[in-house]
Amino acid sequence: MKTLNIGVIGAGGRGCLARNAHLPDEGVQIVAGADVNNKHLDSLKEFVGKDIFLTNDYKKLLKLKEVDAVFVTSPDFLHEEQGVAVLEAGKALYLEKPMAISIEGCDRLLKTAYKTGSKLFLGHNMRHFPAILKMKEIIDSGLIGEIQAGWCRHFINYGGDAYFRDWHSERRYSNGLLLQKGAHDIDVMHWLMGSYTQNVVGMGMLSVYNRCKRRSPKTPGCAKWDENQWPPLKQTGFSPIIDVEDHNMIMMQLENGAQASYMQCHYAPDSERNYTFIGTQGRVENVGDHGGCEIHVWTQRGPRHDPDIIHNLKEVKGTHGGSDPAIVREFIQFVRKGIKTNTSPVAARNSVAVGVMGHRSMRNGCAPQRIPELPKDLVRYFANGQKK
Ligand SMILES: NC(=O)c1ccc[n+]([C@@H]2O[C@H](COP(=O)([O-])OP(=O)(O)OC[C@H]3O[C@@H](n4cnc5c(N)ncnc54)[C@H](O)[C@@H]3O)[C@@H](O)[C@H]2O)c1
Repeated sequence: MKTLNIGVIGAGGRGCLARNAHLPDEGVQIVAGADVNNKHLDSLKEFVGKDIFLTNDYKKLLKLKEVDAVFVTSPDFLHEEQGVAVLEAGKALYLEKPMAISIEGCDRLLKTAYKTGSKLFLGHNMRHFPAILKMKEIIDSGLIGEIQAGWCRHFINYGGDAYFRDWHSERRYSNGLLLQKGAHDIDVMHWLMGSYTQNVVGMGMLSVYNRCKRRSPKTPGCAKWDENQWPPLKQTGFSPIIDVEDHNMIMMQLENGAQASYMQCHYAPDSERNYTFIGTQGRVENVGDHGGCEIHVWTQRGPRHDPDIIHNLKEVKGTHGGSDPAIVREFIQFVRKGIKTNTSPVAARNSVAVGVMGHRSMRNGCAPQRIPELPKDLVRYFANGQKK
């Protein structure tokens, strides 16, 4: 099989995910990297070897004929521009979530993939979390009946470290953290509930991290993680501009009539995405979302602390509960063999659309918002495995 040559745009931070694709023994190798920060390019070179092509200008990477596929793992506000450029250059694209920070941006990416025929893949790695896959298996088996309600409580204890010190804290770069983080969870709820959101109502506010000490505008933003930073109000070094919410809540009506809710808090002392799906014959809930965790199932009436079935999930090797190496393998097989994937560009767009409209609702007196539909030919193209 022909060697698959990979380029990486945004080599630091999340860009480390792409290293899972450097598998020279399997004919897949990273050959180029683009980043505005040389420190990250040097680190990639150290990992891959001295022959790698490095540049500060991603457009130069896209001119390389030998590059077949590109990971775009740069910040959210660059996904649309860089993703479109990758597709226009005729290369397969692994695009990190969220797909873009606007619905128009997502639709432009989908239309460009349709027009060029370049392959588009979205990095929704939660679709490879063992806990999510187990809950999907239980729901799909029919054990808990027809799902009518889905809730997700999202506790984040690293919110102050990760999202209020750099670009994440500004609407112009992320739109907001409901979209930034919640794109994962909205996507999971759509997937497990078998339908997309039609209407959304949101409520959110910024009430804790606006009170923390800021850095000077002259000091560059730096997402610094430190487990000892507690309680939230004692934290320092926050962005000069914070116009995103630190608490987000939305309620969703799905096209199939089911209802869902998602709540996200950035100043919680612990971290977990806790989902529950309630059907006409039972309920499923995860306790822990990666590593060794449990899936509880109730199929009879009885006490909450006494589920009828408990599935113990073992830790899987690899970052994000083993989902990172798994999703990169899926991408490689998708590019090489056109396999059907767990992830979906249309679903990724629809999760962004709910994030955008949820933010619009919470910023406009909780007014209900309808999710704009995609043109049918685009939906058909992606449902057909990106074949016309
Ligand atoms: N799926 C997941 O589990 C997961 C986890 C973390 C982050 N992410 C996503 O990954 C993306 C990156 O997040 P991050 O926290 O690593 O961000 P980051 O700020 O650390 O940036 C990532 C890299 O992009 C580089 N970069 C910035 N501007 C660039 C430009 N113009 N051209 C090329 N490179 C540029 C940065 O120097 C850095 O090396 C985000 O979209 C985020 O949502 C996904």
